[in-house]
Amino acid sequence: MESREQWGTRTGFILAAVGSAIGLGNIWRFPYTAFDNGGGAFFIPYLFALLTAGIPIIILELAIGQKNRGSAPLTFAKINRKWEWVGWMQTFVSFFIAVYYVAIIGYSLAYAYFGLSQAWGADLGSSESFFYGYLGITGGQFQLGGIQMGVLIPVVLAWIIIYAALAGGVKKGIEKANKIFMPVLFILVVIMAIRGVTLEGASTGLNYLFEPDFSRIFDYKVWVAAYGQIFFSLSICFAIMIAYSSYLPKKTDIVNNGFMISLLNCGFSLLAGLAVFGVLGHMAHVEGVAVTDVAAGGIGLAFVVFPIAINNLPMPELFGAIFFLSLVFAGLSSAISINEAVISGLMDKFDLSRKKVVNFYSAVAFIVSMLFVTGAGLLILDVLDHWMNSFGIVFGGLVEIILLAWFFNLDSIKKYINPMSDFAVGAWWSFMLKIVTPVVLGYMAIANLYGDLTTNYGDYTSSALFVFGWLAFIATIVGGFIMQSMKWTNEERLNVESFEKQSEIGG
Ligand code: ALA
Repeated sequence: MESREQWGTRTGFILAAVGSAIGLGNIWRFPYTAFDNGGGAFFIPYLFALLTAGIPIIILELAIGQKNRGSAPLTFAKINRKWEWVGWMQTFVSFFIAVYYVAIIGYSLAYAYFGLSQAWGADLGSSESFFYGYLGITGGQFQLGGIQMGVLIPVVLAWIIIYAALAGGVKKGIEKANKIFMPVLFILVVIMAIRGVTLEGASTGLNYLFEPDFSRIFDYKVWVAAYGQIFFSLSICFAIMIAYSSYLPKKTDIVNNGFMISLLNCGFSLLAGLAVFGVLGHMAHVEGVAVTDVAAGGIGLAFVVFPIAINNLPMPELFGAIFFLSLVFAGLSSAISINEAVISGLMDKFDLSRKKVVNFYSAVAFIVSMLFVTGAGLLILDVLDHWMNSFGIVFGGLVEIILLAWFFNLDSIKKYINPMSDFAVGAWWSFMLKIVTPVVLGYMAIANLYGDLTTNYGDYTSSALFVFGWLAFIATIVGGFIMQSMKWTNEERLNVESFEKQSEIGG
C-alpha cells in the first residue's frame, strides 16, 4: 500500500482549505462584483449561490477526494475510467489560473513597496498612468514589449515562496505556510476593516455596498456573477478541493468541514468588503464626489483607485502596506493550492515523487508565467481570467455535477459521509446537486457562451480573444482527453474500493 501524504491536524487542513478559498477573489473581486451588481441586492443571489451550489459542491468534492484519496484526475478515474478527463480538464484550468494569478501577487508585492512613498501620485489620473507605466503596458496582447523588471522581481519572489511550500510537502510545506499566512492575514484584514468602518464618510461607501437595489435582482447577469464569484472563491470545480481533501485521514467530518470552510470564506469576504468600501466611502467624502465615481472594476479597483483612497488615510504608508500585504498573503495561500491541484494530479498519474514533480512543474509554470511579466501581461491576464472563469470553471463544474449527480448514486456518498459527520446531509443536498446546480450551471454556460460569441470581451481584437480565450479553454478539454489516453504508471492506484463499488461504475 502506498502511503499518501496527510495533513498534520484538522486545524491544519481547515487553515489550508480556507487559505485556498480566501484569495485575491475576496479582496479585489468580491467588493467590486458586489458593488457592480446592485450592491445589497447582490447578497441575495450570493447567499443563494452559497447555499444552493457552494456548500453542496464543496461537501461533494471533499467527500470524493477524501474517500478516493486522489487528486481530481485520480478521483474521477477511480469513480469511472471514462471520467478521468474531467479531472484533467479542471487541472488544466488550475494551471492556467496559476500562471497569471502569481502576476497579481507580484503587483501587490510591488505596491506594498510603492506605498511607502506613495509612488502612485496624488490623484486618479496619476495613479492610472503610474500603474500602466509600471506594467509597461503595450497596445495589444501580441505586442509583448519585453520583460518588465518591476514585475519580474516580485513575481520571482512569489514563486520562491510558492515553490518552498509545495516542495515542503503537505504537512511540512503547505500546512506550515498556511499556519503562518492565515493568522497574519486575519489580523491585517481586521485592522483594515476597523479602520475602514470608522472613517468619516465610511457609511456612504458601505451603503453602496449593502443598500439593496432590487431593480437588479431580476437581471440574470447579477446571478451569473454571484455564482461565478462563489465558484472561484470557494476554489470548487477546478480540482483544488478534491486534491486537498485527498490528504485527509480516513475518518473525517466532511459535512462540518465543508460548512466551516464556506462560511469562513464568505465571512472573510464581508470583512474585506467593509474595509474596501469604508475606505472608498471616505475617499468619496474627502473629494466631495459620489462613490460610484471613485469605484472601478477588478484590478483597477485595487491598483488604481485604492492607492488614492489610501492617500486620504492618516498614516497612508502603514495602510498601503497593510492592504497590499493582505493581498499578497491571501494570494500566496491560494496560489499554493492552485498549483498543488496540478502537482497532485501529475504525482498520481506518473507515480513520481513530490520532489521530481514539483521541480519539473515549477520550471514549466514559471516559464509560462513570464508571459504575464511582459508589457502585454495584464492584457493577456484579463482575457485568460475571463475565459477560465466564464468557461473553464463553469463547464468543468457542469460536467462534474451532471456526471456525479445524475450518473452516480449520491445516496452512497451520503451513507459514507453522514456517519462520520456531526450533522448529516439530507434530501436538500441531493436536490441541490441533482436539480438546482445543473440548471444554474447549464444556464450560466449558455448565457456566457451567448455573451462572448456575440460581443467582443473588453474591446480586444478577435484574434487575441481567440488565442488567449477560446483556444486556452479548448486546450483544457483536449488536454483532458489526451491525459486520459495516457497509461497510469501504477495501475494499482486505480483500484476501486468504495461508494458501493463506485455506484456499480457510474450506475
Ligand atoms: N479561491 C481563490 C480566490 O478567491 C482562488 O482567489
